[in-house]
Amino acid sequence: MAEAQVPIEILKLVETLCGPAPEQLQEAQAFAPSNIALAKYWGKRDEVLNLPHNSSVSVSLGSLGSYTKISAAEGADEVYLAGKALDRSEPFAAKVLQFVELFRRGQSLPIRVDTSNSIPTAAGLASSASGFAALMKALNEAFGLALSLPQQSLFARFGSGSATRSFWDGFVTWERGVRSDGSDSYGVPLETEWPEFRIALVPVNTAPKSHSSRDGMNHTTATSPLYASWPKQAEEDFCTAVAAIKDRDFPTLGPLCEANALAMHATMSAARPALHYLSAQSWEILEKLSQARGDGLAAFATMDAGPNIKLLYLDAARDDVMSLFPTATEISPFN
Ligand code: PMV
Repeated sequence: MAEAQVPIEILKLVETLCGPAPEQLQEAQAFAPSNIALAKYWGKRDEVLNLPHNSSVSVSLGSLGSYTKISAAEGADEVYLAGKALDRSEPFAAKVLQFVELFRRGQSLPIRVDTSNSIPTAAGLASSASGFAALMKALNEAFGLALSLPQQSLFARFGSGSATRSFWDGFVTWERGVRSDGSDSYGVPLETEWPEFRIALVPVNTAPKSHSSRDGMNHTTATSPLYASWPKQAEEDFCTAVAAIKDRDFPTLGPLCEANALAMHATMSAARPALHYLSAQSWEILEKLSQARGDGLAAFATMDAGPNIKLLYLDAARDDVMSLFPTATEISPFN
């Protein structure tokens, strides 16, 4: 995004919150955790400002996330992913440099961005949330922007909505906000610690997804007759999930997370043409899980814009979950 193409609403926010354009660039590095939404964001009420129709809540994945280092480049900008130099026209590099430009504001400060992910590729987790959060944190330091974490979260929203929630560990909400300029739509951490809370990633297909979540949600919002019921239900689910997290009430939270994810996927199935991120194997896992629940297992699933399944359970169910799903990678977000 060249400076001239940045929407005026975003430029105004940059001017108000970041002060004058930077005059120098200092070396900086940052880490941000990946996160999994427990009550999901799906659909934008404002595409330019990337504002959601509903609030969402997630749990961060501890040491699984993105590392970003920023330094001065010699001549032109450079972007490296996992140590490999990318062509600036590659979509990933172009997105990173667009985001950099928001804060560089036309200044002649060539930049080198080095990003790597500690998320095992085989886990099938998207890295855009942690990637934009780590990039924002590193830019904040590199350009001396002195933004608070909520302000950084607000700006990361322009890279990826879910990045708003990747600035803190543990449970984090992304408030939909009510202001038209989006200045009240950013991440807010919850204080609740829940050491027994577990997530297991069950890989189904770890290749990059065929439709980005941005395209998927826009298509769903524009064409799915079921979408009309989503924002209200999703906001209710969000409130119930936050209350259940605060009470550490797994019997309420577990089923709610699975129902919320299935409702989100139902809106996509009803889109015209239908959009399916879940594959036959995803449904087999969901069926196996449902049968195990019939035998008393307290584990539930959540699914994002891809076929991979994330299981939610408490430590006491660990052995049963792992013997049922031996390919799963377990994460303890609070240990
Ligand atoms: O932040 P995005 O644009 O990658 O969209 C994320 C959408 C979901 O992962 C499906 C839900 C969520 O709240 O993270």
